[in-house]
Amino acid sequence: MTPDPVFLATAVEIVLRAGDIQMDGRASGFRVAKKGAIDLVTEVDLACERMCRAVLAERFPDHDILAEELSAGPQEAARAPYRWVFDPIDGTTNFAHGLPIFCASLALELDGQPIVGAIYDPSRRELFTAEHGLGSFVNGVPLKTSGTAPIGDALLVTGFPYDMHVRGPELVELFGEFLQRARAVRRLGSAALDLCYVAAGRFDGFWEQHLNPWDVAAGALVVTEAGGRITGMDGAAFDARAGHLVASNGPVHDAMLEVIRDSRAGRTLSGTH
Ligand code: IPD
Ligand code: CA
Ligand code: CA
Repeated sequence: MTPDPVFLATAVEIVLRAGDIQMDGRASGFRVAKKGAIDLVTEVDLACERMCRAVLAERFPDHDILAEELSAGPQEAARAPYRWVFDPIDGTTNFAHGLPIFCASLALELDGQPIVGAIYDPSRRELFTAEHGLGSFVNGVPLKTSGTAPIGDALLVTGFPYDMHVRGPELVELFGEFLQRARAVRRLGSAALDLCYVAAGRFDGFWEQHLNPWDVAAGALVVTEAGGRITGMDGAAFDARAGHLVASNGPVHDAMLEVIRDSRAGRTLSGTH
């Protein structure tokens, strides 16, 4: 069953409005607070989330909302079959530092499966959209993942969590392993855009762990609807709640999973777990 078009229209309206709020914030300045040792939240994140909640509560009072700043947490149980999953700014660290790589990301899930996704990058005015079974698009132009293989020819991207100081060695080791096997590896600071760029064929693959559902719910649909593949880092079926993923064009996917397996096996053998 294809999603009701009103869902995508609403998702697009919200991420475009969030983009306006973000660009206004950049122009006028904003307050920044710390959520953790390095994790930031700005008043713009909160303004975007309040706008999103107000629109959805008015249009779809029966639907549930999971969003980064004002929900109880990523594991909050869904209270309705339809649940909107919103990241008011994905790339907050970039945003707070004036680096123009950030976006708003909104998905609609039905019984836990994303059926609609919209991601808007206001700095480049790129709107990424996807509906289950209907493909994915950037500014209305269909997206298609790359055909790049082998992994030695691949341009990959990854990201790191805010508790890097605790998890550092394992993540850096895996990063080093990919650096040695791929053509190059980038780190942009927005998981939602990383996924859109895999869908657009700008990257051939993306891996990351310790993510939240709002980072990936919309982008995962953009990737699969562009013909890409997405799994957990263990190769299991993708689950936005699991927190880890490999998203790729398809042809480099198994090689990426192999790098992860080898890196983990190396740690076990050398007793560094
Ligand atoms: C972060 C970004 C980043 C990823 C982090 C996320 P935020 O989201 O997606 O690329 O590496 O793990 O937490 O905090 O900017 O919404
Ligand atoms: Ca995020
Ligand atoms: Ca965020």
